[in-house]
Amino acid sequence: MTTGKINGGKEMRRKYLVLAGVLCIITVAAGGCKSGEEETVKNIKIGVTLYDQYDTFISEMMTEFTEYAADKEEESGVAINVEIMDASQSQLTQNEQVKSLIDKGCDVICVNLVDRTEPTTITDLAENNHVPIIFFNRELVAEDLERWAELYYVGADASESGTLEGELAADAFKTNSSMDKNGDGICQYVVLEGEAGHQDSIVRTEYSVNTMVEKGVETEKLGYAIANWNRAQAQTKTAAMLTQFDNKIELIIANNDDMALGAIDALKASQIPKEEWPGVVGIDGTDVGLNAVKNGEMLGTVYNDKEGQAQEMLNLAFVIATNGEKDEIPLLNGKYVRTPYHKVTLDNVEEYENKQGTAN
Ligand code: GAL
Repeated sequence: MTTGKINGGKEMRRKYLVLAGVLCIITVAAGGCKSGEEETVKNIKIGVTLYDQYDTFISEMMTEFTEYAADKEEESGVAINVEIMDASQSQLTQNEQVKSLIDKGCDVICVNLVDRTEPTTITDLAENNHVPIIFFNRELVAEDLERWAELYYVGADASESGTLEGELAADAFKTNSSMDKNGDGICQYVVLEGEAGHQDSIVRTEYSVNTMVEKGVETEKLGYAIANWNRAQAQTKTAAMLTQFDNKIELIIANNDDMALGAIDALKASQIPKEEWPGVVGIDGTDVGLNAVKNGEMLGTVYNDKEGQAQEMLNLAFVIATNGEKDEIPLLNGKYVRTPYHKVTLDNVEEYENKQGTAN
Protein backbone atom coordinates (compact mmCIF):
# COMPACT_ATOMS: atom_id res chain seq x y z
CA MET A 1 0.00 0.00 0.00
CA THR A 2 1.48 3.35 -0.94
CA THR A 3 -0.35 5.52 1.55
CA GLY A 4 1.31 5.90 4.91
CA LYS A 5 -1.86 6.63 6.83
CA ILE A 6 -2.56 3.27 8.39
CA ASN A 7 -1.67 2.90 12.04
CA GLY A 8 1.33 0.75 12.98
CA GLY A 9 -0.55 -2.44 13.93
CA LYS A 10 -2.62 -2.45 10.79
CA GLU A 11 0.46 -1.68 8.69
CA MET A 12 2.25 -4.73 10.13
CA ARG A 13 -0.78 -6.90 9.59
CA ARG A 14 -1.14 -5.68 6.01
CA LYS A 15 2.51 -6.32 5.24
CA TYR A 16 2.08 -9.82 6.56
CA LEU A 17 -1.07 -10.37 4.51
CA VAL A 18 0.45 -8.92 1.35
CA LEU A 19 3.44 -11.21 1.83
CA ALA A 20 1.15 -14.16 2.44
CA GLY A 21 -0.79 -13.22 -0.72
CA VAL A 22 2.37 -13.00 -2.79
CA LEU A 23 3.57 -16.36 -1.49
CA CYS A 24 0.21 -17.88 -2.33
CA ILE A 25 0.29 -16.52 -5.88
CA ILE A 26 3.76 -17.96 -6.41
CA THR A 27 2.50 -21.30 -5.15
CA VAL A 28 -0.52 -21.15 -7.48
CA ALA A 29 1.82 -20.51 -10.42
CA ALA A 30 3.80 -23.59 -9.37
CA GLY A 31 0.64 -25.65 -9.33
CA GLY A 32 0.16 -25.76 -5.52
CA CYS A 33 -1.91 -23.69 -3.06
CA LYS A 34 -5.27 -24.63 -4.61
CA SER A 35 -6.82 -28.03 -4.34
CA GLY A 36 -8.51 -28.49 -7.66
CA GLU A 37 -11.71 -26.48 -6.97
CA GLU A 38 -12.59 -23.39 -9.01
CA GLU A 39 -9.84 -20.78 -8.78
CA THR A 40 -10.69 -17.69 -6.74
CA VAL A 41 -9.12 -14.23 -6.90
CA LYS A 42 -6.38 -13.97 -4.26
CA ASN A 43 -4.87 -10.64 -5.04
CA ILE A 44 -6.33 -7.36 -6.29
CA LYS A 45 -5.00 -3.91 -7.06
CA ILE A 46 -7.08 -0.75 -6.58
CA GLY A 47 -5.81 2.55 -7.98
CA VAL A 48 -6.96 5.90 -6.60
CA THR A 49 -6.29 9.39 -7.95
CA LEU A 50 -7.22 12.46 -5.90
CA TYR A 51 -7.96 15.95 -7.17
CA ASP A 52 -5.94 17.36 -4.25
CA GLN A 53 -4.54 15.31 -1.38
CA TYR A 54 -4.43 18.40 0.86
CA ASP A 55 -8.23 18.84 0.81
CA THR A 56 -9.27 18.13 4.41
CA PHE A 57 -12.42 16.14 3.68
CA ILE A 58 -10.75 14.07 0.95
CA SER A 59 -7.73 13.26 3.09
CA GLU A 60 -9.95 12.17 5.99
CA MET A 61 -12.00 10.04 3.62
CA MET A 62 -8.85 8.36 2.26
CA THR A 63 -7.64 7.55 5.77
CA GLU A 64 -10.91 5.68 6.24
CA PHE A 65 -10.60 4.01 2.84
CA THR A 66 -7.17 2.55 3.54
CA GLU A 67 -8.32 1.32 6.94
CA TYR A 68 -11.34 -0.40 5.41
CA ALA A 69 -9.05 -1.94 2.78
CA ALA A 70 -6.89 -3.40 5.55
CA ASP A 71 -9.99 -4.74 7.35
CA LYS A 72 -11.39 -6.19 4.14
CA GLU A 73 -8.10 -7.89 3.38
CA GLU A 74 -8.11 -9.54 6.77
CA GLU A 75 -11.76 -10.55 6.56
CA SER A 76 -11.64 -11.89 2.99
CA GLY A 77 -8.11 -13.32 2.77
CA VAL A 78 -7.68 -11.50 -0.55
CA ALA A 79 -4.49 -9.41 -0.70
CA ILE A 80 -5.54 -5.82 -1.48
CA ASN A 81 -2.95 -3.50 -2.92
CA VAL A 82 -4.10 0.15 -2.90
CA GLU A 83 -2.10 2.77 -4.79
CA ILE A 84 -3.07 6.39 -4.19
CA MET A 85 -1.90 9.27 -6.39
CA ASP A 86 -2.35 13.02 -6.05
CA ALA A 87 -3.26 14.93 -9.21
CA SER A 88 -2.45 18.27 -7.50
CA GLN A 89 -5.42 19.96 -9.18
CA SER A 90 -4.28 19.18 -12.74
CA GLN A 91 -6.61 17.23 -15.02
CA LEU A 92 -3.74 16.49 -17.40
CA THR A 93 -1.74 14.98 -14.54
CA GLN A 94 -4.76 12.94 -13.49
CA ASN A 95 -5.27 11.58 -17.01
CA GLU A 96 -1.62 10.46 -17.02
CA GLN A 97 -2.06 8.88 -13.59
CA VAL A 98 -5.04 6.83 -14.77
CA LYS A 99 -2.96 5.64 -17.73
CA SER A 100 -0.13 4.63 -15.43
CA LEU A 101 -2.48 2.89 -12.97
CA ILE A 102 -3.91 0.89 -15.87
CA ASP A 103 -0.37 0.01 -17.02
CA LYS A 104 0.43 -1.13 -13.48
CA GLY A 105 -2.39 -3.65 -13.68
CA CYS A 106 -5.11 -2.07 -11.50
CA ASP A 107 -8.34 -4.07 -11.52
CA VAL A 108 -10.40 -0.96 -10.79
CA ILE A 109 -9.59 2.76 -10.40
CA CYS A 110 -11.28 5.27 -8.08
CA VAL A 111 -11.18 8.75 -9.59
CA ASN A 112 -11.78 11.99 -7.69
CA LEU A 113 -11.99 14.07 -10.88
CA VAL A 114 -10.13 17.37 -10.98
CA ASP A 115 -12.49 18.83 -13.57
CA ARG A 116 -15.88 17.17 -13.36
CA THR A 117 -16.69 18.33 -16.90
CA GLU A 118 -13.62 16.58 -18.39
CA PRO A 119 -13.97 12.83 -17.74
CA THR A 120 -13.73 11.77 -21.41
CA THR A 121 -10.03 10.95 -21.61
CA ILE A 122 -10.35 8.79 -18.50
CA THR A 123 -13.53 7.03 -19.55
CA ASP A 124 -12.07 6.28 -23.00
CA LEU A 125 -8.89 4.86 -21.44
CA ALA A 126 -10.97 2.78 -19.03
CA GLU A 127 -13.24 1.35 -21.69
CA ASN A 128 -10.42 0.61 -24.16
CA ASN A 129 -8.50 -1.26 -21.44
CA HIS A 130 -11.56 -2.79 -19.73
CA VAL A 131 -10.75 -1.29 -16.34
CA PRO A 132 -13.87 -0.14 -14.43
CA ILE A 133 -13.86 3.33 -12.87
CA ILE A 134 -15.53 4.48 -9.66
CA PHE A 135 -15.75 8.28 -9.71
CA PHE A 136 -16.24 9.82 -6.28
CA ASN A 137 -17.01 13.10 -4.54
CA ARG A 138 -16.87 15.30 -7.66
CA GLU A 139 -19.93 14.33 -9.63
CA LEU A 140 -19.83 14.22 -13.39
CA VAL A 141 -22.99 14.83 -15.40
CA ALA A 142 -25.26 11.81 -15.80
CA GLU A 143 -24.64 11.50 -19.57
CA ASP A 144 -20.91 11.07 -18.98
CA LEU A 145 -21.52 8.27 -16.49
CA GLU A 146 -23.69 6.53 -19.09
CA ARG A 147 -20.86 6.37 -21.63
CA TRP A 148 -19.84 2.87 -20.50
CA ALA A 149 -21.50 0.22 -18.33
CA GLU A 150 -18.51 -0.06 -15.97
CA LEU A 151 -18.56 3.54 -14.72
CA TYR A 152 -19.89 4.24 -11.20
CA TYR A 153 -20.22 7.17 -8.80
CA VAL A 154 -19.95 7.24 -5.01
CA GLY A 155 -20.90 10.43 -3.18
CA ALA A 156 -23.83 12.23 -1.63
CA ASP A 157 -26.75 14.35 -2.75
CA ALA A 158 -25.60 17.98 -2.78
CA SER A 159 -29.12 19.38 -2.42
CA GLU A 160 -29.64 17.45 0.83
CA SER A 161 -26.59 19.08 2.42
CA GLY A 162 -27.76 22.55 1.40
CA THR A 163 -31.25 21.90 2.76
CA LEU A 164 -29.92 20.68 6.12
CA GLU A 165 -27.51 23.62 6.38
CA GLY A 166 -30.42 26.00 5.70
CA GLU A 167 -32.46 24.28 8.42
CA LEU A 168 -29.61 24.67 10.92
CA ALA A 169 -29.27 28.36 10.09
CA ALA A 170 -33.03 29.03 10.17
CA ASP A 171 -33.45 27.28 13.53
CA ALA A 172 -30.58 29.28 15.00
CA PHE A 173 -31.87 32.60 13.67
CA LYS A 174 -35.42 31.95 14.88
CA THR A 175 -34.45 30.77 18.35
CA ASN A 176 -31.60 33.15 19.09
CA SER A 177 -32.75 36.78 18.85
CA SER A 178 -29.24 38.12 19.46
CA MET A 179 -28.28 36.86 15.99
CA ASP A 180 -30.47 39.61 14.52
CA LYS A 181 -27.92 42.26 15.41
CA ASN A 182 -29.78 45.26 13.97
CA GLY A 183 -33.18 43.95 15.12
CA ASP A 184 -34.84 44.35 11.71
CA GLY A 185 -36.14 40.75 11.64
CA ILE A 186 -34.14 40.05 8.48
CA CYS A 187 -31.09 37.81 8.34
CA GLN A 188 -28.21 39.65 6.65
CA TYR A 189 -25.88 36.95 5.35
CA VAL A 190 -22.84 36.26 3.20
CA VAL A 191 -21.85 33.01 1.51
CA LEU A 192 -18.42 31.42 1.24
CA GLU A 193 -18.51 29.27 -1.86
CA GLY A 194 -16.35 26.30 -2.88
CA GLU A 195 -14.87 25.96 -6.37
CA ALA A 196 -16.86 27.59 -9.15
CA GLY A 197 -18.59 24.88 -11.17
CA HIS A 198 -18.42 22.18 -8.45
CA GLN A 199 -21.83 20.59 -7.89
CA ASP A 200 -21.53 21.05 -4.14
CA SER A 201 -20.84 24.80 -4.43
CA ILE A 202 -23.67 25.56 -6.80
CA VAL A 203 -26.32 23.37 -5.21
CA ARG A 204 -25.44 23.92 -1.54
CA THR A 205 -25.54 27.71 -1.97
CA GLU A 206 -28.94 27.60 -3.63
CA TYR A 207 -30.58 25.10 -1.29
CA SER A 208 -29.28 26.55 1.98
CA VAL A 209 -30.75 29.99 1.33
CA ASN A 210 -33.98 28.70 -0.24
CA THR A 211 -34.52 26.49 2.80
CA MET A 212 -34.10 29.41 5.19
CA VAL A 213 -36.75 31.30 3.26
CA GLU A 214 -39.06 28.25 3.24
CA LYS A 215 -38.60 28.00 6.99
CA GLY A 216 -39.94 31.55 7.32
CA VAL A 217 -36.71 33.54 7.69
CA GLU A 218 -36.52 36.75 5.71
CA THR A 219 -33.04 37.04 4.22
CA GLU A 220 -30.84 39.68 2.67
CA LYS A 221 -27.69 38.67 0.81
CA LEU A 222 -24.91 41.17 1.51
CA GLY A 223 -22.26 39.41 -0.55
CA TYR A 224 -20.39 36.23 -1.37
CA ALA A 225 -16.85 35.10 -2.04
CA ILE A 226 -15.35 32.05 -3.73
CA ALA A 227 -12.77 30.45 -1.44
CA ASN A 228 -12.29 27.06 -3.17
CA TRP A 229 -12.96 24.91 -0.07
CA ASN A 230 -9.84 26.46 1.45
CA ARG A 231 -9.44 27.77 4.98
CA ALA A 232 -6.75 30.39 4.27
CA GLN A 233 -8.63 31.80 1.26
CA ALA A 234 -11.81 31.95 3.33
CA GLN A 235 -10.03 33.86 6.08
CA THR A 236 -8.77 36.48 3.63
CA LYS A 237 -12.13 36.83 1.89
CA THR A 238 -14.06 37.01 5.15
CA ALA A 239 -11.73 39.67 6.56
CA ALA A 240 -12.43 41.76 3.46
CA MET A 241 -16.21 41.27 3.80
CA LEU A 242 -16.16 42.14 7.53
CA THR A 243 -14.60 45.47 6.62
CA GLN A 244 -16.79 46.01 3.57
CA PHE A 245 -20.04 45.37 5.43
CA ASP A 246 -18.96 47.14 8.60
CA ASN A 247 -20.05 44.53 11.15
CA LYS A 248 -23.51 44.16 9.57
CA ILE A 249 -23.12 40.44 8.77
CA GLU A 250 -25.39 38.27 10.93
CA LEU A 251 -24.75 34.89 9.32
CA ILE A 252 -21.92 33.29 7.35
CA ILE A 253 -23.02 30.32 5.28
CA ALA A 254 -19.98 28.29 4.22
CA ASN A 255 -20.17 25.52 1.61
CA ASN A 256 -17.79 23.46 3.79
CA ASP A 257 -16.20 23.35 7.24
CA ASP A 258 -12.72 24.44 6.20
CA MET A 259 -14.13 27.71 4.83
CA ALA A 260 -16.31 28.12 7.95
CA LEU A 261 -13.12 27.75 10.01
CA GLY A 262 -11.38 30.33 7.82
CA ALA A 263 -14.27 32.70 8.59
CA ILE A 264 -13.80 32.03 12.31
CA ASP A 265 -10.05 32.71 11.93
CA ALA A 266 -10.96 36.09 10.42
CA LEU A 267 -13.42 36.85 13.24
CA LYS A 268 -10.78 35.97 15.84
CA ALA A 269 -8.34 38.33 14.15
CA SER A 270 -10.94 41.14 13.95
CA GLN A 271 -11.88 43.70 16.59
CA ILE A 272 -15.42 42.28 16.80
CA PRO A 273 -16.18 41.01 20.33
CA LYS A 274 -17.11 37.32 20.36
CA GLU A 275 -20.69 37.96 21.52
CA GLU A 276 -21.23 40.05 18.37
CA TRP A 277 -19.82 37.49 15.92
CA PRO A 278 -22.16 36.43 13.13
CA GLY A 279 -23.39 32.86 13.29
CA VAL A 280 -21.29 30.47 11.17
CA VAL A 281 -22.54 27.24 9.59
CA GLY A 282 -20.57 24.67 7.58
CA ILE A 283 -20.78 21.26 5.93
CA ASP A 284 -18.61 18.11 6.26
CA GLY A 285 -18.13 17.38 9.96
CA THR A 286 -14.37 17.11 9.56
CA ASP A 287 -12.45 16.60 12.81
CA VAL A 288 -11.69 20.32 13.05
CA GLY A 289 -15.26 21.21 12.05
CA LEU A 290 -16.77 19.04 14.77
CA ASN A 291 -14.37 20.57 17.25
CA ALA A 292 -15.57 24.07 16.31
CA VAL A 293 -19.19 22.97 16.87
CA LYS A 294 -18.22 21.52 20.23
CA ASN A 295 -16.47 24.66 21.43
CA GLY A 296 -19.35 26.86 20.29
CA GLU A 297 -17.53 28.72 17.49
CA MET A 298 -19.74 27.17 14.81
CA LEU A 299 -23.55 26.99 15.14
CA GLY A 300 -23.57 23.64 13.42
CA THR A 301 -22.38 21.58 10.50
CA VAL A 302 -23.82 18.95 8.18
CA TYR A 303 -22.12 15.58 8.37
CA ASN A 304 -20.78 14.42 5.01
CA ASP A 305 -20.44 10.71 5.67
CA LYS A 306 -16.79 10.08 4.81
CA GLU A 307 -16.85 6.70 6.57
CA GLY A 308 -19.91 5.56 4.63
CA GLN A 309 -18.55 6.80 1.31
CA ALA A 310 -15.12 5.24 1.92
CA GLN A 311 -16.67 1.94 2.93
CA GLU A 312 -19.12 1.82 0.02
CA MET A 313 -16.36 2.69 -2.42
CA LEU A 314 -14.10 -0.02 -1.03
CA ASN A 315 -16.90 -2.59 -1.10
CA LEU A 316 -17.79 -1.73 -4.69
CA ALA A 317 -14.13 -1.78 -5.79
CA PHE A 318 -13.66 -5.14 -4.09
CA VAL A 319 -16.71 -6.70 -5.72
CA ILE A 320 -15.65 -5.42 -9.15
CA ALA A 321 -12.05 -6.59 -8.75
CA THR A 322 -13.02 -10.05 -7.49
CA ASN A 323 -15.82 -10.51 -10.05
CA GLY A 324 -18.28 -10.78 -7.19
CA GLU A 325 -22.02 -10.09 -6.99
CA LYS A 326 -23.14 -6.49 -6.53
CA ASP A 327 -26.30 -7.49 -4.59
CA GLU A 328 -24.97 -6.11 -1.31
CA ILE A 329 -24.01 -2.73 -2.80
CA PRO A 330 -26.81 -0.13 -2.52
CA LEU A 331 -26.52 0.91 -6.18
CA LEU A 332 -29.11 3.32 -7.58
CA ASN A 333 -29.78 2.80 -11.29
CA GLY A 334 -26.93 0.29 -11.23
CA LYS A 335 -24.42 3.17 -11.08
CA TYR A 336 -24.72 5.46 -8.06
CA VAL A 337 -24.08 5.02 -4.35
CA ARG A 338 -25.15 8.02 -2.26
CA THR A 339 -24.81 8.30 1.49
CA PRO A 340 -27.17 10.50 3.53
CA TYR A 341 -26.10 13.73 5.28
CA HIS A 342 -26.90 14.52 8.94
CA LYS A 343 -27.27 17.75 10.93
CA VAL A 344 -24.75 18.24 13.74
CA THR A 345 -25.13 20.73 16.58
CA LEU A 346 -23.84 20.96 20.13
CA ASP A 347 -26.64 18.56 21.11
CA ASN A 348 -25.39 15.58 19.08
CA VAL A 349 -21.78 16.41 18.14
CA GLU A 350 -20.35 13.67 20.33
CA GLU A 351 -22.15 10.99 18.31
CA TYR A 352 -20.12 12.02 15.27
CA GLU A 353 -16.73 12.36 16.89
CA ASN A 354 -16.02 8.66 16.86
CA LYS A 355 -18.23 7.66 14.00
CA GLN A 356 -17.54 4.30 12.41
CA GLY A 357 -18.73 3.20 8.99
CA THR A 358 -22.06 1.43 8.88
CA ALA A 359 -22.00 0.09 5.34
CA ASN A 360 -21.62 -3.67 5.05
C1 GAL B 1 -17.10 18.41 -0.96
C2 GAL B 1 -16.62 18.70 0.45
C3 GAL B 1 -15.56 19.77 0.42
C4 GAL B 1 -14.45 19.37 -0.54
C5 GAL B 1 -15.02 19.01 -1.89
C6 GAL B 1 -13.93 18.54 -2.82
O1 GAL B 1 -18.04 17.38 -0.94
O2 GAL B 1 -17.70 19.14 1.22
O3 GAL B 1 -15.02 20.00 1.69
O4 GAL B 1 -13.80 18.27 -0.01
O5 GAL B 1 -16.02 18.02 -1.77
O6 GAL B 1 -14.44 18.06 -4.01
